[in-house]
Amino acid sequence: MLQKSFKKKNSNFHFRDGILHAEKVSILELAKMTKTPFYVYSATALEDGYNALVSSLKELNHSLYYSVKSNSNVAVLRVLSQLGSGMDVVSGGEYLRARKAGVPGERIVFSGVGKTSEEMTLALTQGIRQFNVESIPEIQQLDIVASKLGKVAPVSIRINPDVDAKTHQKIMTGKSENKFGIPISLAEEVYNKTLEFQNISIVGIDVHIGSQITDLKPFKKAFEKIADLISNLRSSGQNISRVDIGGGIGISYHRNQADPISPNAFSSMLKSIFGNMDLEIQIEPGRYISGNAGLLISSVIFLKEGSNHNFLIIDAGMNDLIRPALYEANHELIPLLSHSDKSPKMQVDVVGPICESSDVFVKKAVLPKLCSGDLIAIYSAGAYGAVMASEYNTRPLVPELMVKGNRSSIIRARPTIQEVIDKDQIPYWLR
Ligand code: LLP
Repeated sequence: MLQKSFKKKNSNFHFRDGILHAEKVSILELAKMTKTPFYVYSATALEDGYNALVSSLKELNHSLYYSVKSNSNVAVLRVLSQLGSGMDVVSGGEYLRARKAGVPGERIVFSGVGKTSEEMTLALTQGIRQFNVESIPEIQQLDIVASKLGKVAPVSIRINPDVDAKTHQKIMTGKSENKFGIPISLAEEVYNKTLEFQNISIVGIDVHIGSQITDLKPFKKAFEKIADLISNLRSSGQNISRVDIGGGIGISYHRNQADPISPNAFSSMLKSIFGNMDLEIQIEPGRYISGNAGLLISSVIFLKEGSNHNFLIIDAGMNDLIRPALYEANHELIPLLSHSDKSPKMQVDVVGPICESSDVFVKKAVLPKLCSGDLIAIYSAGAYGAVMASEYNTRPLVPELMVKGNRSSIIRARPTIQEVIDKDQIPYWLR
């Protein structure tokens, strides 16, 4: 299929008077108020991502469930909930965040390979659109929990179509060796087995083949298999009224490069496969909405010049943004103050302060010569950034800020180091 590249409106982070701004707010001013490192999100960028997808899908019977795991700050969820977005959650914690943001249970889908009975109970009592279930033991357990509560659990079964998503191997989920879903060869058998359960009601089918997918072909391949399966299931009497196609739409990690997949091309592909099947198409995007809506702002601690390597040591580390260390991800990194093209440049490895050799943001970056205290922005950090952060090396989780127009607000404060340490307790016999 021909794929036209597509550029999301990306004017939400831009230079004005030589200073990087988030919408109308100078990030330099934010940095004066909040010590680095910190995350800053543009509410308008979140809205743009959501609106781009929804408007491309308008000719289809569709609904959107933002994947909370990509960025679960309640303020982020509130922005999307106010636009009418549903939520895709994978834990009781994410479910409660979505509820706190104002999302009703009927707009929440519960995914994940290992839901506990407590999580099932929470969702069944407070309301849920559907459980995306991934195994027979899970269906059995859900049936037991639902029957104790006198409820019927709405279920879609996640199918593993055995399709290579052509993405980083740590984030592909649709191959037979991945732990996710029911193998497509067993799908009809499993659907038939669900008829035995009184407190389970089948509403649809679910598939998610991976994340940061940059080509339509793997999606197409997987969805065609699912469409065939739906026809077969329907002929054997199963009620499949919804197809949940998961998330996974990739984004550009370079400011000036178009996103790899255009929502319109994606939507035409969906239409050509599912258009005449009388189905509601559910989509669970995460990164497409949140990825380019956030930056991680950091300061240079030292420039360490060596005989054959220069290291720019910054105050953000792999504990704050683990994607480069975990997936060899390339996040673009630019100084917060613009430099003229003529200013002296140097080649540096940009690294964090963590005691691990994998604590590297970029190798061999060519940057203007920076020194202690200079600020830099790490791009495309809105998805799988703050949510995957840890306190490794006893570094408190960094704060998160949100900007809308000329307004800014702290949406998660930085804990003090004392608060972090005070979570530990010395056992009574060592006191
Ligand atoms: N639905 C399901 C069932 C998922 O497992 C995921 C992501 C999504 C939707 C959303 O996918 P997205 O649209 O964001 O690609 N930490 C990794 C990504 C892990 C994705 C996990 N599942 C990273 O930083 O690249």
